[in-house]
Amino acid sequence: MIPAIEVRGLRKAFGKLEILRGIDLTVDDGEVLSVIGPSGSGKSTLARCICCLESIQAGEIRLHGERVDGGRLGSREISRLAGMIFQQFNLWPHLTALQNVCLAPLQVLGLPLEEARERGVTLLERVGLGDRLDARPGRLSGGQQQRVAIARALAMEPRIMLFDEPTSALDPELVGEVLEVIADLARSGMTMVIITHEMLFARDVSSRILFMDEGEVVEEGSPEVFFTAPTKARTRQFLQRMLSHIGQEIGKEPLR
Ligand SMILES: Nc1ncnc2c1ncn2[C@@H]1O[C@H](COP(=O)(O)OP(=O)(O)O)[C@@H](O)[C@H]1O
Ligand SMILES: [Mg+2]
Repeated sequence: MIPAIEVRGLRKAFGKLEILRGIDLTVDDGEVLSVIGPSGSGKSTLARCICCLESIQAGEIRLHGERVDGGRLGSREISRLAGMIFQQFNLWPHLTALQNVCLAPLQVLGLPLEEARERGVTLLERVGLGDRLDARPGRLSGGQQQRVAIARALAMEPRIMLFDEPTSALDPELVGEVLEVIADLARSGMTMVIITHEMLFARDVSSRILFMDEGEVVEEGSPEVFFTAPTKARTRQFLQRMLSHIGQEIGKEPLR
């Protein structure tokens, strides 16, 4: 089977500073991969490279078998392959929720108005915002705005979704509603890469966890093995720190 995402020998530098030092990564169709790691380890850069938002110095990136690095594809093709959700929602403030979701299908895919509208309504209902179609972002909570952003990405019908710390900008009480939407997508069989600091969430929704540090993949494995018996010292150290914040320990009690 052709993997959904295949990254080989990816190197990325900003000037002289090498940020990604030879990343190899495979994500199968329908897999949910969570990427964790300290701030500055290169997680966002990796996601941006996969979505072709960055040029790269070496290596190859394939999405569903198609080579996408090196400016081979235009933004339209890329947006059909992979949708990306950022920490900041980046909605158009002057457009309603529905208009935000319909804009790219209308302008990029050239869908007829009625069809774009129907797609937008269905997606906003799916993320629990069927009653806020006409609200502008300023009238929506952060959690609602992020759900609109997810609906907007889905409106392009991408084959892969990448989430870069989708709940990091949210007040704690709004995190759950966004994670629930992402979990729902995961259950639907969508191929996803999720960069997150939400350890319990990562454990529950992922088929695989990958730990990055200093521009390298340090360790990866199933959530069960990863959270109970990480093999590398750097992984243990990071996990211990992250889990102690939420009153948990590696492999001690069930992470509930
Ligand atoms: N556009 C850029 N120009 C220069 N340095 C950058 C740029 N983007 C990221 N970096 C640097 O790359 C490193 C990794 O950043 P990033 O991928 O955002 O890490 P993470 O998402 O894991 O926190 C950091 O040291 C950051 O300062
Ligand atoms: Mg980041």
